[in-house]
Amino acid sequence: MQQKNIEVCFSPALIDNYDIKDKNVVLIDVLRATSTICTAFAWGIKEIIPVASEEEAQAYKTKGFIVAGERDGKVLSFADLGNSPFNFMNDKIKDQSIVFCTTNGTKAINAAKNALRLVVGSYLNFSSVANYLEKDNHDALLLCSGWKNKFSIEDMLFAGSLCYRLIARKYFQTDDDAAIVSVDMWNNAKNDLLKYVDKSDHCKRLKKLGYNEDIEYCHTFDTTDTLPVFTENKIIDTNENI
Ligand code: MLT
Repeated sequence: MQQKNIEVCFSPALIDNYDIKDKNVVLIDVLRATSTICTAFAWGIKEIIPVASEEEAQAYKTKGFIVAGERDGKVLSFADLGNSPFNFMNDKIKDQSIVFCTTNGTKAINAAKNALRLVVGSYLNFSSVANYLEKDNHDALLLCSGWKNKFSIEDMLFAGSLCYRLIARKYFQTDDDAAIVSVDMWNNAKNDLLKYVDKSDHCKRLKKLGYNEDIEYCHTFDTTDTLPVFTENKIIDTNENI
C-alpha cells in the first residue's frame, strides 16, 4: 500500500503555505463550530451556508433565512440560534437551510475553499472522517481553526488524534513537525482528554459563558456517521455519496 502524506496547519493564517488543490483538507473547530455542524446534520438539517462576516449573515437574515452564529462565543444579537450544538438538537431544523457565522470556524472554511475536498471533522464524526481519508487516494491537511489566527489546544489535540490513528494503521506517514507535535500532544492528553483541554483559553471562555456541557459533548467520539463537505458555497452531508 502506498502511504499518503498528512500535515497539520495550526492556524488559518498559515494556509497559503500549503498547496491544497490536490489535498483533502479536514476543517477542525472542536469548540464548537465543526462539532455543531456535525450535530446539525445528525439532526437532519438539509444544508449549512457558512459566511465569514456578520454583515453577510445579517443580509441573509433580511432575506428571511434562519441564521445561527456567535461572536466570541456569544449568540449574535440578530441570530435565531447560537453556536451551541444543543441549539441544533431540535426537530425544527430538519430539512432546513441555515446560515452559519462563527468567530473562527466559518472564516477558516473561506480560507480553505480551494481544497480538493473540504471535509468537516470533529470527535463526533471521527470514524467517518478517518474512514474517508483512509479510503481516498489523496494526501491530507488537517486545518485547525484556532482562535483569531492563534494556536488552539483543542483543535491541535483533535488533529493529533486523527494523525495517530491514520499513521498507526499505516495509511499515512508524516515528516511534518506540526503533525508530529500533534501526535505527541494527543499521547499526553488521551488518558484524560477533558483535563488537558481544560487548560485551553477557549474552554475558560466557554465556561465563563456557562457552556460547560458543550465542552464535554464536543469531546465525545463517534456519535454520528455524518461526513459534511463544503461544496458550491454550502456544507452538505455526503456520507451516503462518497
Ligand atoms: C468559532 O468558530 O470560533 C467557535 O466555534 C466559537 C464558539 O465556541 O462558539
